[in-house]
Amino acid sequence: MAAQQNNIPQHVAIIMDGNGRWAKQRGLQRIFGHRNGVEAVRAATETAAKMGVKYLTLYAFSTENWARPQLEVSSLMSLLVDAIEKEEPTLNKNNVRFTTIGNVPSLPEKVQQKLAAIECSTQKNTGLTLVVALSYSGRWDIVNAVKKIANSLIAKELEIEDVNEISISKHLSTAQMPDVDLFIRTGGDVRVSNFLLWQIAYSELVFLPVLWPDFREKHFAEAVEEFQKRERRFGKVLEE
Ligand code: FPP
Repeated sequence: MAAQQNNIPQHVAIIMDGNGRWAKQRGLQRIFGHRNGVEAVRAATETAAKMGVKYLTLYAFSTENWARPQLEVSSLMSLLVDAIEKEEPTLNKNNVRFTTIGNVPSLPEKVQQKLAAIECSTQKNTGLTLVVALSYSGRWDIVNAVKKIANSLIAKELEIEDVNEISISKHLSTAQMPDVDLFIRTGGDVRVSNFLLWQIAYSELVFLPVLWPDFREKHFAEAVEEFQKRERRFGKVLEE
C-alpha cells in the first residue's frame, strides 16, 4: 500500500534513536552510528519534501545529551557542522528551508555561525521546512515560554485573561509551526523522551524498530501509512 496523497501529515517530528546500538552491533564506536545517521537524515528530508510534508522536526541533540562523554558531544557537533556545509546546496536545490529550535546560544560558537549561515541562505525557500532541534527539550521550551509570558504580564503587555493555549503556543520555539501530526521514534523504545511535549498533544505516535542509520524512504512511508490508518478524533466523537 502506498501513502494517500490527500492525507499527508503537515508536521512530522522524529526521534532519531539507535545510532549507538547500530555501531555496537558492528563493533564500532558510537560516533560511527551518528555518522551513518546522516544518510538517514538525508533520506527523511528527501522523502518528506517529495511527499509534500510542510515541517520536518528532527531531534538531533537533547538538553540531556550534554551529559554524554565529551568526545561523543564534540564529535556530534563536528558532524553537524560538516553535514550542514555539505548539504547546503542540496537543500537550496530542493527548495528546503532550514531552521533550528533549542538553546542554540549554548552550542559552540562555530556551530552557531554555521547554523546562522545556512538559515540565512535557505530562508526564502518555500518547500519543506527542516527544523533541527539542538540542545532542546520539551520542558525547556515550556519553561522558556512561561518566562516570556511572565515578563509580558509584569510589563502589562499581556493580561492574565490572555494566557491561553493560543498565547502559550505563540511563546514556544515552534510558534510559527502547526502542531505535530505524526511523531516517529526509531530504535524500538516506546517513549517521548522530553521532545515536543506541548506540540504532540494530539499527534499520532508511531514507534519503529529500525535503528536510525538504517532508516530510509520505505520506513518513512510505512509511518505515514500508519498515520493514515488512524482515526484522529482530537478528543471528540466522530459522527456515524
Ligand atoms: C540517538 O542515538 C541519536 C542522537 C543523539 C544523535 C542524532 C544525530 C545525527 C543523526 C547526526 C546528524 C544530524 C543532522 C541533523 C545532520 P543514540 O546514540 O541514543 O543511540 P542508542 O539509543 O542506540 O544508544
